[in-house]
Amino acid sequence: MPKPAPAISQIDGLNVRPSGPWIKKKYHYLKSYCDIFTRAMGKMWAPSALTFIDLFSGPGRCLIKQTGEDLEGSSLIALQYGFSDYIFVEQDRAALNALKTRCQNSPKRKNISFIQGDCNLVIDQVIEQLHPQGLTLAFIDPAKINIKFETVKRLTEDRRVDLLINIMDGMDIKRNFVRYKKQGNRSRLGEFLGGNVPWAKLRKPSDAVDLYKDRIKDLGYKTVEFKDIPVYNTRQAPMYFLFFASKHDRGTVFWKKITVKDDQGQIEFL
Ligand SMILES: C[S@@+](CC[C@H](N)C(=O)[O-])C[C@H]1O[C@@H](n2cnc3c(N)ncnc32)[C@H](O)[C@@H]1O
Repeated sequence: MPKPAPAISQIDGLNVRPSGPWIKKKYHYLKSYCDIFTRAMGKMWAPSALTFIDLFSGPGRCLIKQTGEDLEGSSLIALQYGFSDYIFVEQDRAALNALKTRCQNSPKRKNISFIQGDCNLVIDQVIEQLHPQGLTLAFIDPAKINIKFETVKRLTEDRRVDLLINIMDGMDIKRNFVRYKKQGNRSRLGEFLGGNVPWAKLRKPSDAVDLYKDRIKDLGYKTVEFKDIPVYNTRQAPMYFLFFASKHDRGTVFWKKITVKDDQGQIEFL
């Protein structure tokens, strides 16, 4: 079947990613974390060592189907904050080309690396761009759980990388749990969890999420208290949640601070 024509932005005539109103919640926390992280850490770190990585960049804009709102996507959002360097990875060539065009007029264009490909396969190219003593925020925003644990492990090994991961719990883990269990370690869930999974102990989808958190902790994210931000669709069905992890207490303090209130300014009761 031929690929459907991409949606086009009324703002700049380039590809745009269709989404729903829930995306605003995700962007609220992304913006808040970029803000607190760059303001606090930019002062302490060498100026050329604060990097933002977007492993699933998209084309740079998204369109909320229900309202017609045409919003900047994660990569363009991050450009507004005080990172010194940016690495944008996207598998889809047309989407990456749209993103490149959108970044052409950015004053930071010389500090952006664009990498086309499956982030699980090109992660070494990403690592090569990182300053050895740098501090990094990695935003990992797949539409399924197609981020392999091995990729996260390689990216974070011996490096200071805060992780903000969109975990497709309702949209993928719950929906496909039975099939993934049957397929075992080579299933998408098996690779997401890093293989060698004690499947018999995973009785329900939330057991898989708990195992994921334990394995992230084992990568050195020991000081983290996890505080998840669930995101619901318009029928209030849980779709995914944002999961934050830092190796440093300070990251955890920042995350707690920005999640006291939700995107509507209400106190969060999690
Ligand atoms: C949910 S969208 C990301 C949206 C973007 N972060 C934003 O907020 O504007 C997921 C994107 O990841 C891309 N993608 C899917 N699998 C990928 C992979 N393995 N590596 C890199 N990009 C991938 C898709 O083409 C899609 O553009």
